[in-house]
Amino acid sequence: MPKITIVGAGNVGAVTAHLLAMKKLGDVVLVDVLEGVAQGKALDIIEAGPIEGYGVSVIGTGSYEETKGSDIVIVTAAVPRKPGWTRKDFLDNNSKIVRNVVENIVKYSPGCILIIVSNPLDVMTYLACKTSGFSRERVIGMGCALDSSRFRHFIAQELHASNANVDAFVMGAHSDLMVPVVSHAYANGKPLTTLLDPGRVSTIVEKTRKAGPEIVALLKTGNAHYAPASAIAELVDAILSDSKKIIPCSVYVKGEYGTNGLCIGVPVHIGKKGAEAVVETTLTNEERNAFEKGVQETKEMIKLLEQ
Ligand code: LAC
Repeated sequence: MPKITIVGAGNVGAVTAHLLAMKKLGDVVLVDVLEGVAQGKALDIIEAGPIEGYGVSVIGTGSYEETKGSDIVIVTAAVPRKPGWTRKDFLDNNSKIVRNVVENIVKYSPGCILIIVSNPLDVMTYLACKTSGFSRERVIGMGCALDSSRFRHFIAQELHASNANVDAFVMGAHSDLMVPVVSHAYANGKPLTTLLDPGRVSTIVEKTRKAGPEIVALLKTGNAHYAPASAIAELVDAILSDSKKIIPCSVYVKGEYGTNGLCIGVPVHIGKKGAEAVVETTLTNEERNAFEKGVQETKEMIKLLEQ
């Protein structure tokens, strides 16, 4: 069984642990600094095994030693996001947490693939790249996989189409500057732009951009966790099954899409080595400009982080 560690037993971490167990993807170690929380949630998940038919091991711990030899490590640890907060507000607090977590993880699992979930996502993924010293294949930021699922949902909802017949993705920054790629969005085999007038397409794009904050505002405390957990499990599954599925995620770009020196959401083939190859596709001028705005915002935040 592969060994999968999840750091942070908050809502995202715990729902992910449950989903990984339900999908029987591997043995799970849930880590949290809060005494008892990871242990309690792990027991709760494992006790559902006889009903759900899973026999994987799920362990809760406060100690990194138990994460030793993990194949995949998912980093969800972060300060809770408050309504009205921008992703920039997280920067200082979360960088301290993520740096510390990654240092500990690398010590015990030097060969693992890291999946970063903490916000601000693209900056934390960059920080994890720098802190771990791993090649870019082994540091994957989960942001655009989630945004893409939301985009597909809103398209399907608007057209009363089956989710299964909607093919669309989001790239760029995991912030309100994300780029739902309308020019490559299809429903029922037809380009989205031939199915809906530009006004309705813009409404879907805006809904997708605001989907995370919409949930934060409704919940009052905390943020989305079910769809994020599904997006994480999608990445884990693609890695472990070596599927080469194209999933948009944040990786350290080296000239792709005309940019470098940061992590940003791009479509990537995911397989057993991690983020194996960035897929370059054509974008409209509008999409390219929007992507560039996200790149600039992320670069500014990285600069702030490195001050
Ligand atoms: C979201 C946060 C978790 O997009 O980044 O919901």
